[in-house]
Amino acid sequence: MPRINFPDGFDFGVATSAFQIEGAWDADGKGPSVWDTFGHTPGKVHDDVPGDVACDHYHRFRDDVALLKDLGVDSYRFSLSWPRILPDGTGAVNRKGLDFYKELVDELLEAGIAPNVTLYHWDLPQALEDRGGWPNRDVAGWFADYAALVFDEFHGLVPRWSTLNEPIALWVGYGMGAFAPGRADERAGRQAMHHALLAHGRALEAFRAGGDAEAEIGIVLDIWKRHPATASVADHDAAERGDDESFRFFLDPLLLGGYRDRLVRRLTERGVMPETRPEDFELIARPVDYLGLNVYSRVVASAADAEQRWWVAGDAHPGGNFLDNGMEFYPKSVYDAIRMVTGEYGFDRPLYVTENGVSDALGDDAAHPIDDAERIRYVAGFLSWIAKAVEEGADVRGYYLWSLMDNYEWSAGFSQRFGLYHVDTRTLARTPKRSAHWYRDVIAARGFDP
Ligand code: NOJ
Repeated sequence: MPRINFPDGFDFGVATSAFQIEGAWDADGKGPSVWDTFGHTPGKVHDDVPGDVACDHYHRFRDDVALLKDLGVDSYRFSLSWPRILPDGTGAVNRKGLDFYKELVDELLEAGIAPNVTLYHWDLPQALEDRGGWPNRDVAGWFADYAALVFDEFHGLVPRWSTLNEPIALWVGYGMGAFAPGRADERAGRQAMHHALLAHGRALEAFRAGGDAEAEIGIVLDIWKRHPATASVADHDAAERGDDESFRFFLDPLLLGGYRDRLVRRLTERGVMPETRPEDFELIARPVDYLGLNVYSRVVASAADAEQRWWVAGDAHPGGNFLDNGMEFYPKSVYDAIRMVTGEYGFDRPLYVTENGVSDALGDDAAHPIDDAERIRYVAGFLSWIAKAVEEGADVRGYYLWSLMDNYEWSAGFSQRFGLYHVDTRTLARTPKRSAHWYRDVIAARGFDP
């Protein structure tokens, strides 16, 4: 097979998020987030272990930047904890919280690594949840104020920003109840999703007003494209409905200026169409500098399977190439996502693959905790499809592997490990897995032999 190469200027990186790695949940004036509350509620997260300590990155960030340097990454994608900076969500600033991120950014810049900062990766200040959370329209203003504060503090230091990471998580948190804050109310979930778009628009407005001319800003969406399990009309409809109600819910207003008619019809029939105002859509559709895509696999949709699981064992599934964690290995999903955004949506600005990775179950007591051959196969597969898209002219500027190290996988705690570095949750020692060595070589060579 021919060598896979990436053009000069293509950024290789890794990604993390604040709640999943920082720990120090109540240190130095930080306020609680909805995920602190959720993790402290019995029965909500794996083994009832909350994210209080996570990887203790808050106290070990200098060592972690050394790991990034070892890998040779061009860029590091991480998020800010809103309640670490604004413990009540609005109002008084926690200087120590801001200083932590200042030091982190300094350390990265000194190491020659470009910070890529996400404003919101799911850890809403609990104080704002107490005021109604994402279903309350006021959230857009709260978020814009937080964003403006942060843009001002980091003016000229951060070259790449994103407003929100995977806002579909609000659906899981408010519509299904599987994520914080644990509400299962479809109406609230849909309203929260609309407000996320509004919050994005308001933050973008604050960013443009701030005039940080060298920096770029975008939003990060996850694309799990549905493929009908069979050629039946019912399965086709199930796939279409799944796409409409997940990633198209965001892509349509962002890139096409509004929700599509058939989605509005369906949500209205179910009595869960969010309240919107005509002026919302102009704000939401203001052009981003880039779009970030998180792609892990596809979903196989069948009318008989209301849950639309991405793995459906047996004959219903046309793929059948499964990973140890049960997810289908379908590396073409990233190519399909890129083609959909550039083709169908006509998006003509830069793209980044802002997340891609696979979990293992190599826990603290695994016999071979760093032997993750599957991760290498998985990432190589996705990189090959990205290289193909680039060769064909897609403007993909970079790739961020999820994740630098094993971390707190939300409701699954440490049972799902996505790291290039193994983390022993008892000692918090970081140890490179086989994939870390492999990825370092890929970065150094700007490509690999498949
Ligand atoms: C999606 C999220 O952005 C991230 O927080 C999560 O850990 C990974 N993908 C893996 O599930």
